[in-house]
Amino acid sequence: MKITSLGHAGLFIETRHGSILCDPWFNPAYFASWFPFPSNEGLDPATFGNPDYLYLSHLHLDHFDAQFLREHVSKKATVLLPDFPLGFMERALRGLGFTSFIKTDNFEPVELDGLRVIIGSLVAPTDGPLGDSGLIVDDGETRIFDQNDSRPVDLETLTSFGPFDAHFLQFSGAIWYPMAYDMPEKAKQALGVKKRANQLSRSLRYVRHIDASFVIPHAGPPCFLDDDLFHFNDFERDPANIFPDQTVFLEFMEEHGIDNGRSMIPGSVASFEGGDCTVEHPLPEDQVQTIFTDKRSYLEEYKARKQPLINEIKTALPRGQVAIFPALKEWFEPLLEQADLNCVGINGRVLLDLEREKVVLDFQQRRVYEYAEETSYDYLFRIDPALVEHQILNHEEDWINGLFLSCRFEAKRRGAYNEYVYNFFKVLSPERLRYSEDYYAQSAPVRQLWECGNFMVQRSCPHLKADLTRFGEEKDGILTCTLHGWQFDLATGKCLTSDENRLYTRPTVEKIGEETSVTSQH
Ligand code: FES
Repeated sequence: MKITSLGHAGLFIETRHGSILCDPWFNPAYFASWFPFPSNEGLDPATFGNPDYLYLSHLHLDHFDAQFLREHVSKKATVLLPDFPLGFMERALRGLGFTSFIKTDNFEPVELDGLRVIIGSLVAPTDGPLGDSGLIVDDGETRIFDQNDSRPVDLETLTSFGPFDAHFLQFSGAIWYPMAYDMPEKAKQALGVKKRANQLSRSLRYVRHIDASFVIPHAGPPCFLDDDLFHFNDFERDPANIFPDQTVFLEFMEEHGIDNGRSMIPGSVASFEGGDCTVEHPLPEDQVQTIFTDKRSYLEEYKARKQPLINEIKTALPRGQVAIFPALKEWFEPLLEQADLNCVGINGRVLLDLEREKVVLDFQQRRVYEYAEETSYDYLFRIDPALVEHQILNHEEDWINGLFLSCRFEAKRRGAYNEYVYNFFKVLSPERLRYSEDYYAQSAPVRQLWECGNFMVQRSCPHLKADLTRFGEEKDGILTCTLHGWQFDLATGKCLTSDENRLYTRPTVEKIGEETSVTSQH
């Protein structure tokens, strides 16, 4: 098996039984905020644009590059579809001209004339844009797992398909937190340090669980070339920066006794044979190193090449074409009427501060109205109105996969993080909203218990059901679920990350069951 890195999460997998193109991303995403790092400008699409199969892990725009797919990928490719509950990916790809699809079932192997593929799909409202996935490919000689940026929770099923020769996984941040938050610089730094450390340890845990022969960090970080965001790049290995590059993760792995990491840049080719992996880079080794050791110069030059495109994208944004308040009222109020569980979850007001107008989304009264000075609010988003006009004119139903991931906004909140707020902005259509409402309604937590410190503790994380016996880390009475970093005070069960969630705990002296005992909902 031969795998060429196409940059970011992009892979071109060539096997004895056919080729698979995965997540090719070449055009800037999110209003010219994100660019592939290192640059993949030099790659020739003709060398990988005619694959047998196309696999897109999810619809985030750094994985689903519609322009590139339209212009450079053969429509004869058969698409391997993850098992997502809503048909957005198929619809989007049909819109681009693809006609051949294989719909996979979660973790069900599919045999393709000698090639075996398995897609593990994640479908919680918080997983990507209502769905994220990872891909296992087995050509009879080599077996790899492209975890991408998915966060699988069913590790037993996953590892039952191993052992793996290679594990490709994300290790860096891909979010606006904490940079977009309006808070004292010191607090922001502290949160950044914590987030960077959590990301690295979460990925390390996956590396250990999957236990592949070789580990290849990929799927991020992006780089930021617009002047407004250039400072987000991790130039000097700032411990508070959430975008560490692959050299940081490879070193982190080594510090923890794992030395089977391999580095790839766009155009690098990894060949797997007889249990071994050799990587050939498109540049001499010293030039590869310079990309990371002199990142500032590298990105300055990249930025200069991309400046005309950045200017063009920003200039094309609509300004003053839309009356925002009436448009949002007309769009959001019918959704709020249907959003019982989302509204209970948010239970407050969100203020959109859009320079020339301020709009309140009131999840208690389920109304949208103009802000008056005395109105209190729980969440504040300060956004360039041009971005909101763009969302309205294009009727974008997922503002996370667009506006928020652009990092071009400022946020403020009272109290703890509330995932329902961001999830609401992902489900801005009746179909999406219904899905999230049903999901919340059905996700009654499992109450298996396990022993953690001096407590018997609910085994599944209240956030997204990660198995806390695997992902939980206890220190001084605080349990951290390392999958997304949520923390719980074991003595009280109180979630320190999100107000609405609690963890069932009871002191071990009152222990009445074993790890597998099932108790009633607490
Ligand atoms: S599953 Fe997300 S923090 Fe536990």
